[in-house]
Amino acid sequence: MAPLSNQRGSRTERTQDGLQVSNSSISVSKKKWSNLMPLFVALVVIAEIGFLGRLDMAKNVAMVDSWADVFYRRREVAAVGDLEISIFGANQNSETGSCEDWLEREDAVTYSRDFSKEPILVVGAEQEWRSCSVGCRFGFDGVKADAQFGLPHKAGTATILRSMESAQYYAENNIEMARRKGYGIVMTTSLSSDVPVGYFSWAEYDIMAPVQQKTETALAAAFISNCGARNFRLQALEALEKENIKIDSYGGCHQNRDGNVKKVEALKHYKFSLAFENSNEEDYVTEKFFQSLVAGSVPVVVGAPNIEDFAPSPGSVLHIKELADVKSVADTMRYLAENPEAYNKSLRWKYEGPSDSFKALVDMAAVHSSCRLCIHLATMVREKEEKSPDFKKRPCKCTRGSETVYHIYVRERGRFEMESVYLRSSKLTLESMKSAVISKFKSLNHVPAWKEERPESIGGGTELKVHRIYPVGLTQRQALYTFRFKGDADFRSHLETNPCAKFEVIFV
Ligand SMILES: *[C@@H]1O[C@H](CO)[C@@H](O)[C@H](O)[C@H]1NC(C)=O
Repeated sequence: MAPLSNQRGSRTERTQDGLQVSNSSISVSKKKWSNLMPLFVALVVIAEIGFLGRLDMAKNVAMVDSWADVFYRRREVAAVGDLEISIFGANQNSETGSCEDWLEREDAVTYSRDFSKEPILVVGAEQEWRSCSVGCRFGFDGVKADAQFGLPHKAGTATILRSMESAQYYAENNIEMARRKGYGIVMTTSLSSDVPVGYFSWAEYDIMAPVQQKTETALAAAFISNCGARNFRLQALEALEKENIKIDSYGGCHQNRDGNVKKVEALKHYKFSLAFENSNEEDYVTEKFFQSLVAGSVPVVVGAPNIEDFAPSPGSVLHIKELADVKSVADTMRYLAENPEAYNKSLRWKYEGPSDSFKALVDMAAVHSSCRLCIHLATMVREKEEKSPDFKKRPCKCTRGSETVYHIYVRERGRFEMESVYLRSSKLTLESMKSAVISKFKSLNHVPAWKEERPESIGGGTELKVHRIYPVGLTQRQALYTFRFKGDADFRSHLETNPCAKFEVIFV
């Protein structure tokens, strides 16, 4: 998918009066008529007399339309300028908001599929979520499925790969590999996959559980079921022991404690927890890590190279990126263990709340991955339909005098329906888009998707706070970490090349 590219090839512009004129016909008309100005003026006067009060008709009269539009654009002709105002003034409401009203009408297109009557149908899995913001049904039968789990049996149905295993063990979980195998939709732990399925959620982990006394004498606890792995976790464990870090091992690997305990309860009494994954893969972060967070035991990580993206706050995680890091990580563990204040700082997020970035990540899971899949599929259905001629006719912006009003569509991540937001060319900045989005959702009394899920202590007030706004179609990796408009000019050019641009907002 190339979401940032221009969604439409040749642009047809419309003025706010609904008069349609293509760019090429403007330039042709300009040349052709510039030396026939008196006749032109006369014709427009006739047009004015003929159509005043019945301007609806003008919509269908292409010839007059183009002349009028040329007129409208030729501001250098002073005498014509006055006339222009009288013509266009007749059709215009001088109240503020008229451009918005007009765009609301003109840009509205009825989609051929109503998902509440004709829900997205996914075949090959149980329905296991409670509610979804788009009509969505899972099951094992269906003639007209939108998508199905597993490789295709029938042409024309999108196929879905869903797995929470790392690609180092299951090669087809690699996104490129999955695409080559013919999967249209990939759902893996990778935040670059179409619909990420993470191990994390507020519902599953009591992430804000209070910190307990660290009563154990060993510095760290390990729950590693087997020593084998496709990374250096065994060597890292042995190297830490060689550095005289005392480790209580409850799992099958180097076991020295009885493993018959409740893992998270046991972890709570250790300053550190070895969260050693079986593969070092981007975004592959399992329950080992999130259980350490619940326990308030600082995770020492062997695993995802980008584990910092999953840290509840900066400096809350120790990372052994490679074996050579073991010495310095061991030194840090010792230092923190001997300095209660410094150690307490690495758990500060437990008292003061995690970073917005962490909240935004975990909030993703507040909407069930199956529902996110349906939103993804329904968005694809709409996007396909938006390539039809009806959609190309939408004006998407409205110019009056020196000001242009841009019509954009915004939805919250995890929701399907889009809301109209209007931006004025005099204030076409990222900041003013943010405030326009906030006031729109405020006026709708919008309740963020995560409201029910997040623990109360970090549940946020009633204010909406924007964390990210990004074009619909970006991956969560891009949305959360890598994508930013490069300033206001970049944002403006995005609006110009993507009429009726669609965005997603993440509130925190
Ligand atoms: C750690 O810091 C928090 C405040 O950030 C404080 O409430 C708590 O008592 C401290 N704990 C220890 C063991 O010092």
